[in-house]
Amino acid sequence: MTRHLITSAIPYINGIKHLGNLVGSQLPADLYARYQRGRGNEVLFLCATDEHGTPAELAAAKAGKPVAEYCAEMHEVQARIADGFRLSFDHFGRSSSTQNHRLTQHFAGVLADRGLIREVTETQVYSKADGRFLPDRYIEGTCPNCGYDSARGDQCDNCTKQLDPTDLIEPYSTISGSKDLEERETKHLYLCQSQMKDELERWIDTREGWPILTTSIAKKWLTDGDGLQDRGITRDLDWGIPVRRGDADWPGMEGKVFYVWFDAPIEYIASAQEWVDAGKGTDWERWWRTDKGADDVRYTQFMGKDNVPFHTLSFPATILGSKEPWKLVDYIKSFNYLNYDGGQFSTSRGRGVFMDQALEILPADYWRWWLLSHAPESSDSEFTWENFQQSVNKDLADVLGNFVSRITKFCRSKFGEAVPEGGEWGDREAALLADLERQVRAYEAHMEAMEVRKSAAALRAIWVAGNEYLQSAAPWSTFKQDPETAAAQVRMGLNLIRLYAVLSAPFIPDASATMLRAMGCEDAAWPGDVSTYLTELPAAHVFTVPEVLFAKITDDQREDWQERFAGTRD
Ligand code: MF3
Ligand code: ZN
Repeated sequence: MTRHLITSAIPYINGIKHLGNLVGSQLPADLYARYQRGRGNEVLFLCATDEHGTPAELAAAKAGKPVAEYCAEMHEVQARIADGFRLSFDHFGRSSSTQNHRLTQHFAGVLADRGLIREVTETQVYSKADGRFLPDRYIEGTCPNCGYDSARGDQCDNCTKQLDPTDLIEPYSTISGSKDLEERETKHLYLCQSQMKDELERWIDTREGWPILTTSIAKKWLTDGDGLQDRGITRDLDWGIPVRRGDADWPGMEGKVFYVWFDAPIEYIASAQEWVDAGKGTDWERWWRTDKGADDVRYTQFMGKDNVPFHTLSFPATILGSKEPWKLVDYIKSFNYLNYDGGQFSTSRGRGVFMDQALEILPADYWRWWLLSHAPESSDSEFTWENFQQSVNKDLADVLGNFVSRITKFCRSKFGEAVPEGGEWGDREAALLADLERQVRAYEAHMEAMEVRKSAAALRAIWVAGNEYLQSAAPWSTFKQDPETAAAQVRMGLNLIRLYAVLSAPFIPDASATMLRAMGCEDAAWPGDVSTYLTELPAAHVFTVPEVLFAKITDDQREDWQERFAGTRD
């Protein structure tokens, strides 16, 4: 048995995420967690909300709420929606937790002790009207690189260049709009990543089998030097983790907080502590401390490509720099972007489908199946309503749903609601079993490799094999001359439903549970030898005909939704 630590990039607290966010980290992480649990491995699957930084403050201000209250509310909202999508986190934490406060201050203290933090006096933009400094998104202006007129203080959304507030041309405060800004001196802490370049490069070079998307991004940042300049890890903000050196005050840093990208990944560890403190687990150190057993853990992170530099360089710099025995990531699975119907998802313009809206119109399994089977792995991918309708209607309703309904209804009408006895399997069944054996093993290999699309395709092929079998065996015709053989064919069909339920559970957990329940089957053990597995529902085993697993999406629905989500939210 392997122990798997699995984390998904933690979503920002400010607002409900869209389907592109979901498929870029949380959903594939859940797929993998469910699969590993299904294989009988021990899994700790963690996520959290990312609650600090200017986006949280700005969103709270917009909602007219104190930021702590806003975050607490939005955390509940996100947790409820995650539940709706059946994201099976062992814990869904909060980066604002006391555990993360302590741990973040601890790391800063240790890094300082190791000589990896230096104090820098720099000029930052100060707004006299607002009586405060304007870091990151509190300031906008024209991008010096591309001329885009609403570039933010930390990055230009148009050309993606990373910026400093002082780089902006004609800057203004996003709080008051004031242009009465001046540069003032302020002291900040910098993490000396540049000192760690060689160590990080060595570490990345020795990661085996990492996806090209992951290593190429990391390498680019390493060799451009861009990602490995020393970086500021503090901000002049109220909301965040107060700058302390471990348990001690940090002279000169009063009133400042850590930068959100410093504390957010540390929440991966703090979330495990929260999990224990919430009484859901007993020992977080065996997952996170290599001196306490975490050496045996396989740690996999899931994230969108924009997060890769922080996970391949910045967070490892924190961990390695501490020289403490923390678990480092073993494998990073990163994703490209999902686009929406000929353009981009846009949170600000409400373009595309957001997680709450998706669940209002269809159950989680429909979305899970489409998103995972079209995951943006090797390139960006695109959601279109036509494609969604087609996949749901074909894969889920016609192939899987129809198989289940046909075989159970036929059995009920001719043999009653129990697995029929008698008859024998012949060449057709032998061929099917041989095919399935190969296909199931291929499916497992793709799942192990986190090849999400290939896994979906392999699973679909397994469903198709059953359908083709049913089509060619045609027990409804066989029954007329040879009811015994028809009974054997139906027995195969019913056993296939159980196999499908177990194999499909990582993708479509609700439909899988329905199938298992209908088959009167509590044993969801993963299939070893497929031929044996398909005899395990014995003659006389009682089942029921399940409700319709998947309803088809009509053309009217499709057109309706297409219009509704074109970009009018709020
Ligand atoms: N909140 C970030 C985003 O949505 C991800 C943070 S991941 C972590 O892009 F490593 F910082 F936790
Ligand atoms: Zn730009």
